[in-house]
Amino acid sequence: MNPTPSSPLAAEIHEGLDDVVVGVTRLCHIDGEAGQLVYRGLDAARLAESQPYEAVVHLLHEGRLPTAHELAAYRARMRDAGRLTPAEGDAVRRPAGGEPLAAIRTGLSAVAALRGLRPWLDRDPTEVRAEALSLGAAMPAVVTTVHAAAGMPPAGPGEDDSFAARYLSAMRGAPAPAALVRALDRYLVLTADHGMNASTFVARAVASTGADVGSSLVAALGALSGPLHGGAPGPVLDMLDAIGEAGRARDWLARRVREGGRIMGFGHRVYRTDDPRAMSLRAAAIQAGYGRTELALAVEEAALEVLAEMKPGRSLRTNVEFWTAVTLEACGIPRALFTATFAVSRTAGWTAHVLEQVAHNRLMRPMVAYVGPTPQPPQPPRAPRAA
Ligand SMILES: CC(C)(COP(=O)(O)OP(=O)(O)OC[C@H]1O[C@@H](n2cnc3c(N)ncnc32)[C@H](O)[C@@H]1OP(=O)(O)O)[C@@H](O)C(=O)NCCC(=O)NCCS
Repeated sequence: MNPTPSSPLAAEIHEGLDDVVVGVTRLCHIDGEAGQLVYRGLDAARLAESQPYEAVVHLLHEGRLPTAHELAAYRARMRDAGRLTPAEGDAVRRPAGGEPLAAIRTGLSAVAALRGLRPWLDRDPTEVRAEALSLGAAMPAVVTTVHAAAGMPPAGPGEDDSFAARYLSAMRGAPAPAALVRALDRYLVLTADHGMNASTFVARAVASTGADVGSSLVAALGALSGPLHGGAPGPVLDMLDAIGEAGRARDWLARRVREGGRIMGFGHRVYRTDDPRAMSLRAAAIQAGYGRTELALAVEEAALEVLAEMKPGRSLRTNVEFWTAVTLEACGIPRALFTATFAVSRTAGWTAHVLEQVAHNRLMRPMVAYVGPTPQPPQPPRAPRAA
């Protein structure tokens, strides 16, 4: 339905906010034509080769990479803030059951409340920055506590050196091999931020009201629960399971596209060439030789051929979700927690964007074009009847 002809907005509607620029950022740049992702001027794929996740959180929050000394201190801060108190642990375990992401969202909300997070407006920005780091650092413990409460292996000691190592050992119930810790760290760095996607936008919109950091993160988790945002790696593994062996890939994929289905892990709204995150995870998978790598390579090759033939001119390439599935499975993370693991990494971006919003805030208040019944002119007030 069209907006009422008199609406001043009639020519300005951008459904899905396509092409709408809502502000400026110094955090992340995506060059979809060149296939480059940049955090504060540094190439994310290069960072993934050389830096741990905590250094990238520091980069996003503080504007530069830490020195070795600063990194050690930052790691210790994240480790300490990442531990749940007994009361927090109880609160996170309480909503057990249902979708893991719903329990994680509810658990994080409880932790934010128990830590006394308050609206940021008119407060010292240093305090808000500390709250953002602290609550973000608690996300892995919330995820692994929900996992353990659902009857999964009990959480490990959780005292290891790095963020990735602690997450993985808590998830697996035992210390993880160094190569897998490195693989997870690479993934966490590569997915730490990605511009103004739906969950980041929601986090910033909530922050723009002056709300506490916890409310922004809970809202972002809600946005991430939708299948259109962040939910592809699980279905990628389902697809690899269904294909089963390399020789069946082409026929299976062609039938899927012929029937109007989409090949999971391919295509992207922004990248018109290789997704640099996918390429980095792919190279690591080939080097490490995870169990699924051979099948995944064969399916990828077949998918690119099928898409080029059946969707010519669309430039549909492998996206990050395809190789995420292979990586997270190799790390021993259950399929049901792939999206939660994505949330763990993206917390860096969400909190950094919230802090950027805090630093230059304007309350978000977009408009919407009215398309309901034509408004009636206001009726003149009835004259009082003569007695
Ligand atoms: C990510 C995605 C939503 C991007 O969509 P988009 O840029 O808006 O692309 P469009 O929806 O405009 O699709 C353009 C064309 O390519 C096709 N296409 C896009 N991705 C496809 C895929 N993975 N498999 C088959 N066809 C695909 C569409 O059917 C459409 O074809 P048409 O022009 O004949 O209708 C889309 O590529 C997709 O659904 N991919 C699969 C899910 C996935 O991997 N998601 C994770 C993203 S990180």
